[in-house]
Amino acid sequence: MSKPVILTGLRANNDLHIGNYFGALLPLIDMAKKHAGKYQINLFVPDLHSFTTPVDHSKLYEQTMHNLKLFVAAGLPLDNPDVHLYRQSFISAHSELTLILNCFTGFGEMSRMTQFKDKSATLGDDRVSVGLFDYPVLMAADILLYSAEYVPVGDDQSQHIEITRDLGMRINNQFGELFTLPRTVKEQHKFFGKDQGLRIKDLVDPTKKMSKSDESGRGIVFLGDDPKAAAKKIMSATTDSLSSVNLDYKKQPGISNLLQIHALFSGESLETVAKHHKNKASYGDLKKEVAEEVEAFLADFQTKLKNVDESALMAKLETSENAMNEVANTTLAKVQKAVGLRG
Ligand code: TYM
Repeated sequence: MSKPVILTGLRANNDLHIGNYFGALLPLIDMAKKHAGKYQINLFVPDLHSFTTPVDHSKLYEQTMHNLKLFVAAGLPLDNPDVHLYRQSFISAHSELTLILNCFTGFGEMSRMTQFKDKSATLGDDRVSVGLFDYPVLMAADILLYSAEYVPVGDDQSQHIEITRDLGMRINNQFGELFTLPRTVKEQHKFFGKDQGLRIKDLVDPTKKMSKSDESGRGIVFLGDDPKAAAKKIMSATTDSLSSVNLDYKKQPGISNLLQIHALFSGESLETVAKHHKNKASYGDLKKEVAEEVEAFLADFQTKLKNVDESALMAKLETSENAMNEVANTTLAKVQKAVGLRG
């Protein structure tokens, strides 16, 4: 029996931030560390997804390699044979399956994707690419090729997990059981020990999510930020004038976001952290505690980053990309046969 697959990808169009770290990377790495042997762990850079919105192409490859190092610094065990680390574009089956899946995907259902609507609203009409529109289908191919059941992602990607299930089910209904479907979003949360999806907010505008495509970077804590500068970003995070700490995302989005970040760094539950600070009139203590945690975390993380063994990383990529080409091509061949491309 093959082991259940846990899979996630993080785009490399910029450095990763703490939202990416806590939303997707850490849950997967925790599983790789705590349950080695029980699951197969796939972590990849979806480099083809990176330029669905405009990027500096001269820096993309370098950024991809840098982000792979971030994964290792975050604790991905390279010596575990059940862990696979790869770059999406090195496995051409991702692109081929996407083209096939496209023909089973409705224009209407893609138009309803919240991420597409949000992202296209911030770009001018002529900068909204077909690639951006098709982004969830490529993501579905990333998941279905490897029969991944568990996909740790932040809340913003939940809709894409659902569409992956819809597409997989549609094709299974028409052609027989070709794909293993990822679990429902609710089951994913249960598996990763959460009651809901994570969405860390921007520090300057806590009504929107922390996003690596935000150009100013003032509201974002990047994993590569100078630790002291990051602590300052926390100290100057937007709060409110209510003078009472409460976990209330509607009335106090900035404070609630800081409580959430505090809980993640301290490893305590959000309820415990919120209870501890409840009704305090000054926001200074909360900010200071979070700033200290962020500073200490980044200093430690960056030391680990400097010590990443690059030759071990390159060797792992080579082994994983060979192995994953085999897995992905086997799935693709079944689909090609089913849809009439092979005899
Ligand atoms: P990406 O690269 O935008 O983000 C990587 C992961 O970080 C999560 N995330 C957040 N989580 C909490 N709070 C935030 N503020 C925050 N911002 C981002 C995202 O939800 C994501 O899990 N489409 C994906 C990449 C992808 C993928 C896949 C993921 C491509 N193929 C297959 C899983 C499986 C994306 O753009 O994530």
